[in-house]
Amino acid sequence: MEMLVLSHVEKHFGEKQVLKDVTFSVPEHSVFGFAGQNGAGKTTAMKMVLGLLPAGGGEIFVNGMQVRYGNTPTNRFVGYLPDVPEFYSYMTPAEYLCFCGEIAGMPAKEIKNRCEELLCLVGLEKEHHRIKGFSRGMKQRLGVAQALFSRPKLIICDEPTSALDPAGRKELLDVLVSSKEQATVLFSTHILSDVERICDEIAVLHEGKIVLQGALEEVRKERKAAATELETERAEDAGKLLSAFPFLKAQGRGRLLLEETERLPEILHFLADADMPMLRIERREATLEDLYMEVVGK
Ligand SMILES: Nc1ncnc2c1ncn2[C@@H]1O[C@H](COP(=O)(O)OP(=O)(O)O)[C@@H](O)[C@H]1O
Ligand SMILES: [Mg+2]
Repeated sequence: MEMLVLSHVEKHFGEKQVLKDVTFSVPEHSVFGFAGQNGAGKTTAMKMVLGLLPAGGGEIFVNGMQVRYGNTPTNRFVGYLPDVPEFYSYMTPAEYLCFCGEIAGMPAKEIKNRCEELLCLVGLEKEHHRIKGFSRGMKQRLGVAQALFSRPKLIICDEPTSALDPAGRKELLDVLVSSKEQATVLFSTHILSDVERICDEIAVLHEGKIVLQGALEEVRKERKAAATELETERAEDAGKLLSAFPFLKAQGRGRLLLEETERLPEILHFLADADMPMLRIERREATLEDLYMEVVGK
């Protein structure tokens, strides 16, 4: 079942069209990566899912129910982590989460259990200090716990990793993966390698249009074929290989790239006949970055 569906969504700010016929859907219990450069329209689309901005056209459904601007019963299915989350910095993480539970009107016993469970999930169970002294990564992890608190079916996290260092990003991505047992996870980012690391499905937005979408593996298969990298032990052998197989691409220092992967067996025969020592023969999958560059034509 689809937890979120955007169908032909349009958005203008004055003269400027920010979203153009945006259509994609997010399957239940997936981690869905919503990728695109700064200004692509990710935050705008997410705010429309939350009913915080009126749509200029198209329809949005959360858990099968249509989203209406300003009148948002669909938000009871949704937890949200904005791009710059604000906390009461004088509270400890446990106090903050309990406060969220009280606002949501949960019974005290349930609040306490949920608090403990979520602090463990995001790795903050041993932090008894005030949020004031937290790193950005700790704040983002607390933000994910807050978004999950009232057991939403979908959490929407806007660029949760963008301001983090590599270790902080890794920790946050791990938290998003663990969250998918509890909820469907939609997160936006401009960092394609983050999407590649954890997402089941993706949609890539470029200048307001979806340019790539689907299951990550499918997207890879449909697009550019994987290439094979070859590296000869003796630099001069690379030249011999190039004259025998002119379709190889020289990459410098004994390294060659084979894009016509189906021709690898001929090359392997040649290497065996010539007794040519090799350092490396390695299949290289096209990265999401390669695919992105291919579709945006750069
Ligand atoms: N309230 C607004 N009024 C006018 N233009 C806006 C408004 N909000 C966003 N935009 C413009 O819409 C485009 C997409 O913005 P945004 O959705 O924030 O992109 P992203 O989150 O992908 O970086 C940008 O060009 C931005 O300047
Ligand atoms: Mg944004």
